[in-house]
Amino acid sequence: MTNATLDFWIEPNANPVSPDVREGLLADPGFGRVFTDHMVTVRYSIDKGWHDAVVGARQPIPMDPAASVLHYAQEIFEGMKAYKLADGGTALFRPEANAQRFRESAVRLAMPQLPEDVFLESVRLLVDIDRAWIPAGEGGALYLRPFMFASEVFLGVRPSHEYLYIVIASSVGAYFKGGAKAISIWVSQDYSRAAPGGTGAAKCGGNYAASLVAQAQAIEKGCDQVAFLDAAERRWVEELGGMNLFFVFDDGTMLTPPLGGTILPGITRDSILTLARDQGLTVREAPYSFADWRADAQSGRLVETFACGTAAVVTSVGTVRSAEGDFVIGSGSPGQMTERMRTALTSIQRGTAPDPHGWVKPVA
Ligand code: PLP
Ligand code: COI
Repeated sequence: MTNATLDFWIEPNANPVSPDVREGLLADPGFGRVFTDHMVTVRYSIDKGWHDAVVGARQPIPMDPAASVLHYAQEIFEGMKAYKLADGGTALFRPEANAQRFRESAVRLAMPQLPEDVFLESVRLLVDIDRAWIPAGEGGALYLRPFMFASEVFLGVRPSHEYLYIVIASSVGAYFKGGAKAISIWVSQDYSRAAPGGTGAAKCGGNYAASLVAQAQAIEKGCDQVAFLDAAERRWVEELGGMNLFFVFDDGTMLTPPLGGTILPGITRDSILTLARDQGLTVREAPYSFADWRADAQSGRLVETFACGTAAVVTSVGTVRSAEGDFVIGSGSPGQMTERMRTALTSIQRGTAPDPHGWVKPVA
């Protein structure tokens, strides 16, 4: 029994990974390769609504080859982290914001909205049962991946009548190999991630599928991540394949591209906007062109650029590469404002700084 509107049936894994093996896996987990013992599943059908909420052993999911998601990609997901606090407790960071974004993504993908209390309870129960999987090392966290897909066995093109909601958890360290000090970016001028009226503001698998050819090009050019420009004019810098961007100028002000339907409304982005303004800094949400990014980096007016997101936390951008040539930002290594914002954010997340906005939610 739980206090969500739906009761979860809890059936602990009868064959969990042994503590020895788990400790070995947690020593250097990387990102997205080490998974815990449990998962949450909740089903939805038009007739029954949300039902069959279970916390059970992590296992493969049987799929009919005609399941709608395999053909029309009706799928959404979230990404969030549970942290070990300095006092030994465990906490989630702004989980309500993920619950709300998950509902908004559902609306855009014509899916049923999972009640926020069910989302929050599902995540809380999984962290609770798998808390031994949070790596102790610096930057270690339990990355939670709630997702939902169309499970109806039907090939007609219309919103599915059945869905499966699942939460899995992965023990993670740094997203970039070796905890990169500064990453390099490939600016894609051929491919768009999201267009006006499209799904750019939703966290749906299709957005990432659409980004992969550009990400593959980035890797081919020796870069860590791809940056996308707006689809209409191919002029304005929008975001990376999996992170938002901030620009820092020599007068101490910052800028981040505005949300307008084509950019994912990052919770890290929102947290940094809030923390920067708390500190009395000037941050503008305004369009910034690729041409200005280059010119300002070359003139020295732009001193830092950083990427931010749940997986990447706050990561400095050192080099920018495109078909028109390369440029370096500042010294090419992390600058002061990037470090300041990373510290401000992570010390709240880890419980070593006051939490004036009530963002840190202990998992009982
Ligand atoms: N932009 C994209 C495309 C993303 O995939 C992510 C990661 O979730 C973000 C931005 C950052 O969002 P958040 O800070 O909520 O993790
Ligand atoms: C996240 O930060 O949660 C994402 O979904 C981005 C991806 C790079 C893992």
